[in-house]
Amino acid sequence: MSRTWNHSDIHSLKRDEALEILAQIARSEKKTFPTNEAFAFGEELWKKKPNTRVLYTTRVAAGVSSRRDLVAYAVYVRQKGVALLHKVCVIEAYRRQGVGRDLMLYIQQRLRKEGCQQIHLWVDEAREPARSLYRRCGFEERETIPDYYAPGRTGIKMVLDLEHDP
Ligand SMILES: CC(C)(COP(=O)(O)OP(=O)(O)OC[C@H]1O[C@@H](n2cnc3c(N)ncnc32)[C@H](O)[C@@H]1OP(=O)(O)O)[C@@H](O)C(=O)NCCC(=O)NCCS
Repeated sequence: MSRTWNHSDIHSLKRDEALEILAQIARSEKKTFPTNEAFAFGEELWKKKPNTRVLYTTRVAAGVSSRRDLVAYAVYVRQKGVALLHKVCVIEAYRRQGVGRDLMLYIQQRLRKEGCQQIHLWVDEAREPARSLYRRCGFEERETIPDYYAPGRTGIKMVLDLEHDP
């Protein structure tokens, strides 16, 4: 079966290519999230932070992946057996086409191969599409903290046990 989306990480790119992807991600981040939740996608992410991984998704057209057309991105930080998934975002025009789910499956496969046992994340209670995506991927809601993001905005901690997956 032919693939529609190609997932990779910016750390395997040459510097110029990585910086171009980071610039596209930074633009999307600014549009999508309030300033206090926007992740800083600076140049230092490319090489200098060994536990931090920035993943990006492009569309595969006619069997060739076009690096210029960013479709989605994600960031996780590994600490021993636990990965904290800081960010998952699909560019608005590509939502509801299965990209988010495909990217989550890729992240799970990758982390399992890296020997990771759990993925943790925090999500805003009001972000129903994201909560639904995570639940669909097997994450369980474990903790709720009122005013986590800002006054009146509750944060929910979700956890996926990788070792219990088929
Ligand atoms: C959350 C997000 C990543 C989902 O990506 P997506 O590519 O649209 O999701 P998919 O098409 O793969 O859908 C997978 C599942 O997610 C859930 N979902 C996605 N969009 C949804 C929506 N608008 N409403 C309700 N559930 C939704 C559903 O469970 C869906 O499964 P289904 O198609 O069987 O119903 C995307 O909406 C997004 O980037 N939102 C803005 C950023 C964000 O909130 N990120 C998370 C916090 S960092």
